[in-house]
Amino acid sequence: MKSLLDTRTVIPDGRHHDGHTTKLSVRHVNAWYGEKQALEDVTFDICDREVTALIGPSGCGKSTLLTSLNRIAETVPGYRLTGDILLDGKSIFDPDVELEHLRRRFGWIAQMPNPFPEPIRENVAYGARIHGIVEDDNDMDGFVEQCLRRANLWDEVKDILDQPGTSLSGGQQQRLCIARALSTNPDVILMDEPCSALDPGATGRVEELIDELRADLAIVIITHNLQQAARVSQRTAFFHLGKLIEFGDTEDIFLKPRTELCNDYVTGRYG
Ligand SMILES: Nc1ncnc2c1ncn2[C@@H]1O[C@H](COP(=O)(O)OP(=O)(O)OP(=O)(O)O)[C@@H](O)[C@H]1O
Ligand SMILES: [Mg+2]
Repeated sequence: MKSLLDTRTVIPDGRHHDGHTTKLSVRHVNAWYGEKQALEDVTFDICDREVTALIGPSGCGKSTLLTSLNRIAETVPGYRLTGDILLDGKSIFDPDVELEHLRRRFGWIAQMPNPFPEPIRENVAYGARIHGIVEDDNDMDGFVEQCLRRANLWDEVKDILDQPGTSLSGGQQQRLCIARALSTNPDVILMDEPCSALDPGATGRVEELIDELRADLAIVIITHNLQQAARVSQRTAFFHLGKLIEFGDTEDIFLKPRTELCNDYVTGRYG
């Protein structure tokens, strides 16, 4: 497994010394479900062309943060947010933001692979067709191939494109879901424990893919697998009871945590 732990420092205007720019700015975000506060004054930046890992014990607010980024959390009755989230410098809550358009800028990869029970080809073609990404049907085969190649799945499925997506192995299904997410040209891919249902081999292939995809996307991944966070991410955010306790270069979070809470968590001592 290659070492991905390059260190980077943020310079104050939000750019990083290797030229990475801020994709999402989370600013003083509080979130509630009814009376229950799930996030408390969370502020940090998510960079383009990097993988940001969200880690922390169960119930610390990771999924709430992830679903707040694409405003899917708002579909939960009683959910409420204060603070701001900027995408490319513009508030996602601005009145002129069209919700459907905003959500389409995010790809979503769930814990359980969930391909449509439709042909593999259609899993990828559907979103591109309904969102007008590919307008001429003659271009669709080429586009489907391109998405499947980006998801490192093409060679395995090129002769079975008419078989249902659900006929693939779990790891292949998850890569198909990634190809499907790519088909609408998102800026950001959000992943909530994308490998927790996969065996180590399939997990390794998804991790390799994540590393390749960050060449032109921002990726935010929740994982309970600390080795995975260390392998795939450049930046790590550690949450505890709704608060962002530490955020920084992944290597620093794992090797030089500044707080006892984070240290206990990354060394597996958390109670
Ligand atoms: N739909 C909901 N209704 C009410 N409370 C919720 C809802 N979803 C989450 N919560 C609460 O908000 C807090 C944060 O939950 P969240 O799901 O964001 O945590 P998490 O870090 O993703 O946990 P896990 O690692 O178990 O997935 C928890 O206390 C949880 O009980
Ligand atoms: Mg969760």
